[in-house]
Amino acid sequence: MHKTEMRQLMPWSHPLFYGFKAAFCLLLTLSFCASDALGQGKTNTIYPGEVWPDNNGNHIQAHGGGITKWKGHYYWYGEDRREGLDPNYRYTSCYRSKDLVNWTHLGYALKVSKPDTILGEWVVERPKVYYNAKTKKFVMYVHVDGSVKGVSPDPSIIAYHYARVGVAISDKPEGPFKFIRTFRPLGHESRDIGQFIDDDGSAYLIFEDRPVRGFRIAKLSDDYLDVEKEMCLITERIEGGAIVKYEGLYYVIGSGLTGWNANPNKYATATSLSGPWSEFKDIAPPETNTYGSQSSMLVKVQGTKTTSIIFTGDVWKPKTQWDSRYLWMPLEIGDGKLWLPEPAPWTLNIKTGETKILKKK
Ligand code: GAL
Repeated sequence: MHKTEMRQLMPWSHPLFYGFKAAFCLLLTLSFCASDALGQGKTNTIYPGEVWPDNNGNHIQAHGGGITKWKGHYYWYGEDRREGLDPNYRYTSCYRSKDLVNWTHLGYALKVSKPDTILGEWVVERPKVYYNAKTKKFVMYVHVDGSVKGVSPDPSIIAYHYARVGVAISDKPEGPFKFIRTFRPLGHESRDIGQFIDDDGSAYLIFEDRPVRGFRIAKLSDDYLDVEKEMCLITERIEGGAIVKYEGLYYVIGSGLTGWNANPNKYATATSLSGPWSEFKDIAPPETNTYGSQSSMLVKVQGTKTTSIIFTGDVWKPKTQWDSRYLWMPLEIGDGKLWLPEPAPWTLNIKTGETKILKKK
């Protein structure tokens, strides 16, 4: 049989088939491009308050977290509160991402045993990591706390009487971090900590100082291993403190002091880190208690089209801590105002910096 005749006989030689085939190929190419742009199995949508699976499908364990950008990657450090961990240690997890949405678990950045014999029941919370360009080291600050023998009524029950920071150091962002010491920054009690890096690269620690009913902003030493200079004491009862600089203005946010229970988080502004700071105002309708979340960090995404500021907060579940969730939302910010929109799924374009809030499910 002649070749042309054979083609005429075969169903796929029918012109209609070619139409279908072309459409099918186009669809394939389009879906390939889409999945290629995001990567296999990836998403560009953040779902506030829901389970946030890592690359292995496990809920991310990075509570009270901090985000550090280094060489095109974001690193998310946080408290690992998964079940079944060795109770002799406290764990800080590290995750890496290029887009702030899809996170690869890199294991434990810091695994530390009790750093002081006077400690009873103890915690390591709110890790924050700074990259020091001079020493080429990664420096981690954590809040180390717990009951203190001879001070706390029952050292086997957690109490926040130790009130110190811990410092650890690593050559690589994912660790392992080597624990160096605990101390009271500039001699002050220190509970929740926050991190801020200014446009000129200067690194600051924010820490809550309970006895003075306020929180301090202090500059780190050149090697970042110490807290060197106080910039400001803000006498507002705020913890979970975070700072961002946006269009030349500093914005500080924080929560009230209600432990695991959510409360109305607030913000203030200043043209200098040393103040004066404006009065504190609500970041969301106060009756929502910040939609059940507590501030952790403000992340600045400077894209090719716009700069977005992301509120990253924790939705604590004190009885099932491993299941605590994250509430991340792009903020409405500018001209001295800051507002947390009602949580809904949203997309982030890490290249352009654009965000889009999608309709609630
Ligand atoms: C919160 C604090 C959390 C954790 C909790 C324990 O006030 O922000 O990081 O320490 O208390 O009750």
